[in-house]
Amino acid sequence: VPAQSIELSVRVNRRRQSLLVAPRETLADVLRDRLGLTGTKVGCDSQVCGSCSVLLDGAVVSACTVLALEAQGRELVTIEGLGENGKLDTVQAAFLETGALQCGFCTPGFILAVKALLAEQPQADPEQVRAYLRGNLCRCTGYGPILEAIRRLQEASA
Ligand code: FES
Repeated sequence: VPAQSIELSVRVNRRRQSLLVAPRETLADVLRDRLGLTGTKVGCDSQVCGSCSVLLDGAVVSACTVLALEAQGRELVTIEGLGENGKLDTVQAAFLETGALQCGFCTPGFILAVKALLAEQPQADPEQVRAYLRGNLCRCTGYGPILEAIRRLQEASA
């Protein structure tokens, strides 16, 4: 830990964490390398692919381009924070049901983005869904099963 480190105090997946971070450390690096939360994937490392999407106070951010210190005093949710008592979260379950993943690299980011989408715009129409998810790229599924998972979630909560 470099000498100029600053104490970061943040809630991650409902648990308070305090650790020393360097001013330029990214949130993705801190989550993955310091807290062992490797479900946050780093794909492009330049805020294009969405694999590193996490929720910061409920909003989707790209952890690769957010400084860890920007999370000071705030609430973070990563893919490890979803689901309880060994049960999948509803979005995770819907993705499984429709086969909305293949290699899985994009999946944590997609699932968190879908969580935020459904919280913000529960009955978004297909065009709004696609617009909301434009920052998340998937090279495997062709997006169809992902959109179908969202449709089923919307139907279940209507
Ligand atoms: Fe492979 Fe989306 S499942 S990139």
